[in-house]
Amino acid sequence: MSKKILVLGIETSCDDTSICLLRGEIGASKQRPEVLALQSFSQDLLHHKWGGVVPEIAARNHLVKLAPLLENIFKSVSTSSSNLSPKNIDLIGVTTYPGLLGPLLTGVNAAKTLSLLYKLPLVGVNHLYAHLEAIHLDQSVSYPYFGVLVSGGHSLFLLAHSPTNFEVLGGTIDDAAGEAFDKGGKLLGLGYPAGQKIDQLAKQGDASAFTFPIGLRHSKTSELSYSGVKTSLRSLIEATPELYCHTVESQNRQIVYDVCASYQNAITEALILKAKIAIKQSNSQKLPIVVGGGVACNSHLRTCFKKEFSNPNFVSPKFCTDNGAMIANYALRVPELVLAYPDNLVLDAKGRFLQKNNAIANRGET
Ligand code: KG4
Ligand code: ZN
Repeated sequence: MSKKILVLGIETSCDDTSICLLRGEIGASKQRPEVLALQSFSQDLLHHKWGGVVPEIAARNHLVKLAPLLENIFKSVSTSSSNLSPKNIDLIGVTTYPGLLGPLLTGVNAAKTLSLLYKLPLVGVNHLYAHLEAIHLDQSVSYPYFGVLVSGGHSLFLLAHSPTNFEVLGGTIDDAAGEAFDKGGKLLGLGYPAGQKIDQLAKQGDASAFTFPIGLRHSKTSELSYSGVKTSLRSLIEATPELYCHTVESQNRQIVYDVCASYQNAITEALILKAKIAIKQSNSQKLPIVVGGGVACNSHLRTCFKKEFSNPNFVSPKFCTDNGAMIANYALRVPELVLAYPDNLVLDAKGRFLQKNNAIANRGET
């Protein structure tokens, strides 16, 4: 039986500061790791008034929150009889890419400082792979699997051969699914981020009340496009100004519920249509499907995927939106990527992730 180690995961790629203490066996073990503590600070309220994430505000707030979160997480797992401190950490995983460069740098520098103080090994984590690999936090899925990664910055279909070997099959050529939710929500006056809000309001709506376009519907590739659906919503609001929600009360109207349900349904239909093409073209019909990333929390998306595919595996909602547990879990699973101290002090953040055809799949800064 292999030894269990204590991993600290640090996530600061966008606007959530999140850290986690995870205990588990090194490697792609079948034994599930144990989340000892997960603490996050969401900056949603700080970015709300700007209608999107402001990179400088995000980076500054990661700096303010990281040290207290670290202190709190150790307090939360320590009892009068057993104390855990940074000295007990065996490995640190930190998101190095993709994401917003300033926010990423705050996490990477925190990880390197801890490494310097306690001579700890580090893993620089690919945030996108970590989103899908989070499935292993509480479920068993074998490789290869077909991955659907839907987040605020990315929408990708990937073939996962191992924790480090992912093949990009297709995805969005413009906006990500989460961006379509967030930009649509902004047009409606629902604030930022809007995915969860649209999900809630849509529950009382009729998805067939309005027709929104499915981007690249007739193309035979697995490329997705969400710019048209957003433009179509903008035109609808221009023609129907009463759709704009000025107050919480004005959100609670049937027409808003119906628009949310129809808009959400168009985003989901496009994803399913293109996932089917990617599955067929990559001959993945018999493979397990894993759906992860913030948008994988969406209740309509989950219902539709269950209808269209046999037994899709969804990352648990608590591990779908950005979190330190998925980063610690990824670091634990990839011993081949561990960088020992002091060589790891050269670890750096990168903003971008190159996808198929070298298109840049990231709305972050460079
Ligand atoms: O994975 P994530 O936390 O951050 C990125 O890596 O981008 O995803 C955030 C995205 C946001 O666009 C947010 O609106 C969306 O996930 N989201 C949802 C839901 N919950 C979060 N979208 C649709 N329905 C939800 N329930
Ligand atoms: Zn993410």
